Amino acid sequence: MARLKQQYEAEGYYGIGVIHAETEHNIGSLWRSAFILGASFIYTIGRRYKKQSSDVTHAWTKIPLYHYATFADFRENLPHATKLVALEMTENATPINEFTHPPRAVYLLGCESSGLSPEILAECHSVVSLPGGYSLNVAVSGSIVAYDRQSKLPRPLPSRP
Ligand SMILES: C[S@@+](CC[C@H](N)C(=O)[O-])C[C@H]1O[C@@H](n2cnc3c(N)ncnc32)[C@H](O)[C@@H]1O
Repeated sequence: MARLKQQYEAEGYYGIGVIHAETEHNIGSLWRSAFILGASFIYTIGRRYKKQSSDVTHAWTKIPLYHYATFADFRENLPHATKLVALEMTENATPINEFTHPPRAVYLLGCESSGLSPEILAECHSVVSLPGGYSLNVAVSGSIVAYDRQSKLPRPLPSRP
């Protein structure tokens, strides 16, 4: 009997999150963008997120939010064969237009007031920077990297469903 060979999507998956986020609104905005732009999950490290109402898409019903008490806990539980990609403005960062997104990636954003520390950056597989000489809002940064990832897929998401 002939066996049916199953076809799987080759694009992998990604998650995106923030360490020590200071503003609830930013997590809500990031959650919404992440869901719309194809993320599988979002996460917070350190400070917990309390649901706020500005997300009209109810992204919390679509993709989960995971919480990690510490960076060490998060790092230990990084999914198998998945790259940790930091978003930060640093001298050695790869500009996003030159960056090839790993098939399985978890993107990490820093807190609003102080960003990602050198110790945390050293734990990441890559560091990516966004264009412009000034720091962007954390949820905007997350939305841009999510957009960039999907735009580089062999089949980017359609503009209309
Ligand atoms: C508001 S920024 C932190 C700014 C902080 N005051 C500083 O100077 O480091 C919050 C986070 O957004 C992301 N971000 C903002 N602008 C970025 C850029 N141009 N490139 C990459 N990541 C950026 C980073 O993850 C950063 O830690």
